[in-house]
Amino acid sequence: MPMTIALLTTGGDAPGMNAAIRGVVRTAISEGIEVFGIEEGYSGLLKNYFIDIGLAGVSGIINKGGTILRTLRSKDFHLESKRKIGYENLFDHKIDGIIVIGGDGSRKGMYAITKETGIPSVFIPASIDNDVFGTDYTIGFDTAVNTALDAIDRIRDTAASHERVFIVEIMGRDHGFLTLEVGLAGGAELILIPELKQEINMDKICNTLFTGFKRGKNSSIIAMAEGVGMSSNFARIISKKMNIDAKYSVLGYIQRGGTPTAFSRKLGLVFGYEAVKIIKKMKAGQSKMTGIQNNKLVSINLIDVINKEKKIDKKLYEMNKIFAI
Ligand code: F6P
Repeated sequence: MPMTIALLTTGGDAPGMNAAIRGVVRTAISEGIEVFGIEEGYSGLLKNYFIDIGLAGVSGIINKGGTILRTLRSKDFHLESKRKIGYENLFDHKIDGIIVIGGDGSRKGMYAITKETGIPSVFIPASIDNDVFGTDYTIGFDTAVNTALDAIDRIRDTAASHERVFIVEIMGRDHGFLTLEVGLAGGAELILIPELKQEINMDKICNTLFTGFKRGKNSSIIAMAEGVGMSSNFARIISKKMNIDAKYSVLGYIQRGGTPTAFSRKLGLVFGYEAVKIIKKMKAGQSKMTGIQNNKLVSINLIDVINKEKKIDKKLYEMNKIFAI
């Protein structure tokens, strides 16, 4: 009997997810493995939204943002009683392995599936947040960095022309990987991220801005992660304290979509390829993930990484203080 696998995307969409779908489907077909796509993530698993995706199903998607399989956040999937409905659907389709493309929260869901059914699983990390422990990069991060960077560059034009302070709010509820990268590359005068919330002090922020003005800067950009607070509040406080008209701009969901960069596409393809290659050899009860570590494609046991939190590179943060003087 040929192997049959199921594939789904879950969590926030990330540019390059479609390249990963293509990587999985094309590699699986070349290996004689049958693939079912599950639409709408874990929610679709409960609703039995299984579809056949063949070679043609993944044509013309490599350059598309979002995910052709769609992704819904499912509260029901958190309940074991509901998950059992999904498991029946997996058994009905004679699924021998499941591949999940998603973010940090999604891999916990996948781990539960294997623990409760024994069906082996492979997790492919995809998130604009880059907050998945076990991989240096997630699919979509590079694209989001470049999208947000383009926005910062545009805002800087206005900031410089009008001699203004701008607070740019960048996505990242729990982590500041995106903000740190974009802040550095965008030449932000200040970077504010949730991991270093304890360092945030409004008087210090105003002082840094004031020092910059004193030495001739006529505008400043603060790159701030959404998890730090509301940029509108920060702008109001800075305006009051410094007697200026500080502006804010929330970049929001424009950072999630869009044409994936070459790096995000390549990551999607190679992760997809690797996931199929490893799932073929896996035993019941095993869960793994693909990743990139020090420029090398790796596959690791999920148990070793599942509860670990990826840490930001504090050195980069400290470096920016020097660049921004
Ligand atoms: O995980 C990606 C992300 O865009 C986070 O940066 C953000 O906080 C969250 O998703 C927003 O989630 P939702 O799409 O449910 O609003």
